Amino acid sequence: MNYQLLLENIYNEVQSIENTGKVADYIPELAKVNPEKFGISLVDSTGNIFEVGDTKETFSIQSISKVLTTAIIFAKEGNELWKRVGFEPSGNAFNSLIQLEYEKGIPRNPFLNAGSLVIADLMLDHFDDPKKYFLNFVRTLAENPTIQSNESVAQSEMESGFRNAALVNFIKSFKNIKNAPEDVLDFYYFQCAIEMTTTDLAKCFRVFANQGLIPNTDDLFLTKSQCKRMNALMQMCGFYDQAGEFTFKVGLPGKSGVGGGVVALLPNQYTVTVWSPKLNKKGNSFYGLEVLERLTTETGTSIF
Ligand code: DON
Repeated sequence: MNYQLLLENIYNEVQSIENTGKVADYIPELAKVNPEKFGISLVDSTGNIFEVGDTKETFSIQSISKVLTTAIIFAKEGNELWKRVGFEPSGNAFNSLIQLEYEKGIPRNPFLNAGSLVIADLMLDHFDDPKKYFLNFVRTLAENPTIQSNESVAQSEMESGFRNAALVNFIKSFKNIKNAPEDVLDFYYFQCAIEMTTTDLAKCFRVFANQGLIPNTDDLFLTKSQCKRMNALMQMCGFYDQAGEFTFKVGLPGKSGVGGGVVALLPNQYTVTVWSPKLNKKGNSFYGLEVLERLTTETGTSIF
């Protein structure tokens, strides 16, 4: 299928909708982004790339990185991982602390900040230089050796991230964090501050649409069963307390980030990414959801 015309039509149509979203400003460095940026990239199963709008500029992937770290640790630990973090939707905001106390420091899922901090702790256990490993991994998937993590964004979050500091210390009080809280946060902010284009991101997520094999090389990264489970997690937890609405309207597994990025995929068919920094009240890109709802409705493709 030639998606180019479809993406262009959706791009124009969505721009005529009033965007009531707001750029995330709780990380001061992220508040500097131009709110009007808007790009869409789609990569099909054979690697054809379709792009419209601001697809050449990099943006902060933020929570989208959580899917990649989770997949790395799932590949390493197998189902042992689920002793440290759950796989249920939380129905709460991404930075919520509320369930942690009565669930004894086991975060509901790995995409909440709490869960991702446990995954970051495991990254420190598994790799001598987790930052280097993670950056190389992302560069390999995106086939782009220039991808970097933005130090100013990471620093800005380190200075303002009192809630994440509370989360990591609280989880450590339940002994579900092994490393020093400051080291866990240092890696976590590094992974969140990685910047790439919508096309890089669509390429990174092809592995989840390709049954866990790295596209092009066909190297096994995740087993088919693990890949299914990663997609299930994205479906149930990728949009936090808006996961139901995303499933209802879009019907694809996906993940959002407060940098305004959204990625979604249809197994064996395509991966698609949108970047538009204005976020709705649940912290997900306002235009991102509009684009993807139109894409799946107009193509009649979703997993349902
Ligand atoms: O820890 C944070 O709050 C950010 N680094 C990531 C949050 C995020 O992207 C939530 N997603 N919508």
